[in-house]
Amino acid sequence: MCGIIGIVGVEPVAGRLIDSLRRLEYRGYDSAGVAALVDGRIERRRAAGKLRNLDAVLAAEPLVATVGIGHTRWATHGAPTLANAHPHKAGRVAVVHNGIIENFAPLKAALIAQGRHFESQTDTEVVAHLIDRELASGKDPIGAFKAALDQITGAYALAVLVEGEDSLVMGARRGSPLVVGYGAGEMFIGTDALALGLLTNRIAFLEDGDFVAIDHDTARIFDADSHAVERPMHIVSAASALVEKGNYRHFMEKEIHDQPDAVQHTLSAYVDPITGSVASPGVDFAAIDRLQIIACGTASYAGMIGRYLFERLAGLPTDVEIASEFRYREPALLPGALAMAVSQSGETADTLAALRWCKARGIATAALVNSHESTMAREADVMFPTHAGPEIGVASTKAFTAQVAALTALAIAAARQRGRIDAVEEARLVGILLEAPRLIADTIRGEDTISAVVHDIARARDVLYLGRGTMYPLALEGALKLKEISYIHAEGYAAGELKHGPIALVDEATPIIVIAPTDALFDKTASNMSEVIARGGRVIMITDAEGATHAPDGVSIVLVPACDPLIAPLVFAIPIQLIAYQVAVFKGADVDQPRNLAKSVTVE
Ligand code: M6R
Repeated sequence: MCGIIGIVGVEPVAGRLIDSLRRLEYRGYDSAGVAALVDGRIERRRAAGKLRNLDAVLAAEPLVATVGIGHTRWATHGAPTLANAHPHKAGRVAVVHNGIIENFAPLKAALIAQGRHFESQTDTEVVAHLIDRELASGKDPIGAFKAALDQITGAYALAVLVEGEDSLVMGARRGSPLVVGYGAGEMFIGTDALALGLLTNRIAFLEDGDFVAIDHDTARIFDADSHAVERPMHIVSAASALVEKGNYRHFMEKEIHDQPDAVQHTLSAYVDPITGSVASPGVDFAAIDRLQIIACGTASYAGMIGRYLFERLAGLPTDVEIASEFRYREPALLPGALAMAVSQSGETADTLAALRWCKARGIATAALVNSHESTMAREADVMFPTHAGPEIGVASTKAFTAQVAALTALAIAAARQRGRIDAVEEARLVGILLEAPRLIADTIRGEDTISAVVHDIARARDVLYLGRGTMYPLALEGALKLKEISYIHAEGYAAGELKHGPIALVDEATPIIVIAPTDALFDKTASNMSEVIARGGRVIMITDAEGATHAPDGVSIVLVPACDPLIAPLVFAIPIQLIAYQVAVFKGADVDQPRNLAKSVTVE
């Protein structure tokens, strides 16, 4: 889950490493560090905590060099301390690593028995020692690196610097992403195209098992069998993407406001507004007898909304499962099913493993992803894009609504392909779907109305979210958003489930957020709300003007524009996100980089 970068350059390297790491901070921010070749010798600068701490260290002790490697860490083995910060160094070698070396313990014991001294508790440090030991035995750097790779198991992307090798950085990947960037008289490696965005837009994606040696002009790439190979170069758009907050206080705030565009751009990939039709390029849903959606976290809640729509509109049996359970459950999926991974990053370890599990068993696969050059995008049979743009805030917002928009469009396409609706009904649904960006914008403009309930929620120890139908996954998403950025305990429930246990939690200290658009289920949700009020519960009702007229006395109202139930998940997602955001800001929490989390979870 960490981010790595390596540069063989002609310009001063320290600032460039920092700028690239800033673009990788979404992957972890427990510590950061760089190593560079200064007059042929490796020098390191490291700091626990966020990148700005490393910035301060470099300001006090500059590094004058043009070749170096860098790392931003999400801790797996060893606490987030300075000693555990990458790069790790042993003898002539410095290493940065993303992933987990599973057999590090026996390797470390053997290396210690040979008299080697370890400075950290990390799994990574063994890699530096292994390479250094191979160098000491007389191998050249590539031979030493390859010999070390042969001894380790697990998932990794690595970047390696060797003392005395003034224009060499080596890299390798197995299970974790790594790309090569081509510059003019300089070369780069990094976790993803975004990391290299300020350096180049000419990118080659390494395949699993590849290792690479870059110098000023070339990248020598070898596959897992050590055969020299070429990986095609792509001109990527992510590289030039601006990753700036603009006038917003936080990326999350900006990304909430980006949503009309994110949804609009995403819909453009599927919907033809002139003909009122929807395309699902690469997949004929009429030929599919079951849809299996696999995802983690927020993406799984988008998938749950998708299930309601695929089953209701298209009559397509659909399951949704969190990837970490799916991958180890021995699911009884048969050919004829389509497995669809839903993921913002396209790199989430469990989702990727589940996708590969399906592919290995001959099941057709699709990846609905926001990162179009990600591993899932490249490995799935079909890629369904979302066009939310880079999402930097750890709490997913615009990626979620873009996923819901794409799934809604695909459900309409499936309904038509499966003969459940005709062209007239398809055009009617498309017309409704295309209203979503405007209604999302209207909802965001009303954000001040949320302030009234923010203080109440911010003081609470526990918060309950209730919803029915597609509002149930939104209740789960609301609770997740509040938990992850404001550290308030929150749970989402299907409103009908209230009486089966959760109602015991209701007291005057627990705000209960009821998500209740005026739809076929409104009366039932309102009944559940009355049950809560009868027991002294404090209800905050998110609803439209019509719903508000039915609200019992004493209920706080968060008003959203009236909309068709088809797009209610897109519109009602906005107050859910804004409540979490405003509560976190009110509490002074670190909105974009909440504790213990990382944007992209590339370990299981
Ligand atoms: O990149 P992915 O969409 O695969 O990520 C899945 C989850 O890790 C992610 O949605 C996570 O739950 C977010 N932090 C929630 O805001």
